[in-house]
Amino acid sequence: MSKIVTIERFIFEHQPDYARGEFTNLLYDIALSAKIISQKTNRAGLTEILGQAGSVNIQGEDQQKLDVYADEIIFKLNDHTGRLCVMASEEREDIIGIPEPYKKGSYVLVYDPLDGSSNIDVNVSIGTIFGIYRCREYDKRGRIEDILQPARRLVGAGYVLYGSSTMLVYTTGTGVHGFTLNPELGEFLLSHENMVLPDPPSYFSVNHAYYSKWEKPVQAYTDWLQGPESPKMSSRYIGSLVADFHRNLLRGGVFYYPGEINKPEGKIRLLYEAGPLALLIDQAGGYASNGCKPILDVEIESLHQRTPFFIGNRSLVHQAEMFFQQYSGK
Ligand code: AHG
Ligand code: MN
Ligand code: MN
Repeated sequence: MSKIVTIERFIFEHQPDYARGEFTNLLYDIALSAKIISQKTNRAGLTEILGQAGSVNIQGEDQQKLDVYADEIIFKLNDHTGRLCVMASEEREDIIGIPEPYKKGSYVLVYDPLDGSSNIDVNVSIGTIFGIYRCREYDKRGRIEDILQPARRLVGAGYVLYGSSTMLVYTTGTGVHGFTLNPELGEFLLSHENMVLPDPPSYFSVNHAYYSKWEKPVQAYTDWLQGPESPKMSSRYIGSLVADFHRNLLRGGVFYYPGEINKPEGKIRLLYEAGPLALLIDQAGGYASNGCKPILDVEIESLHQRTPFFIGNRSLVHQAEMFFQQYSGK
């Protein structure tokens, strides 16, 4: 029988030297949130939970009930543990302080509770994305400065994919590791140790419907991806970032969500989406860019800042940067 490694065991055996209990337990708490959200999303079609909650989030999008639920679960499982000094969620306008009288801890949690929520009603894979920073001043309760740190300072990042099975994939800076939820046991079991981006890549992923709205370099890059000069790839696009990212991590490729002529900042959020995935891809041997510089080094000025986003095999993302450079002088 092959060795069965639970996520608890793996996290414990691979925790960074500085981790001691706090960081390790934070990862357990995230895994527990993932199990609870997974249980709920799996039953989404069975309950009256489908549909709009009737409220509109800070991004100006309709919130679905599961977004609200997932946000609440992550908050509730982490507000009282003494491990965090502050949180920020894609679904909330402001930073989320640790309520009194709970003790504050040394870490910062940023999260997109439910990614790809437009896919809930059509039973297509969705996900959760998270990032962990250290707080900047340990004696203070969490402040906005603790949240607005470039992704290079993340000490952990990961995502949960609620797909044909539920998977949790994370990094703490020593490789990318994937776990599959065994629903009978209620345990995440190690299924993908040390994930590395395959080369040659298989897929490019973009919402092609926006072609006419893109700047020239993005159009030229898209043409290049389909032409004879690029590696031979197929096109795949789900519209759930976590699911698109996960497929490309396993098969190799590039996902991009560029800016548009009238919306140069694009759609993807730097703090909750691009940043954590940038750390993961870096650890898997790939690269993430905003078209000019590494996502890991982009300065973050506001909680809900958006960014153009290119992520995947290093050579494919570099090629995108080259098209931007080439057109910048024109
Ligand atoms: P969210 O559901 O967290 O708001 O994120 C949706 C994002 C992302 O998951 C996906 O890559 C992108 O929206 C798809 O957008 P388009 O429908 O414009 O392609
Ligand atoms: Mn999202
Ligand atoms: Mn979301």
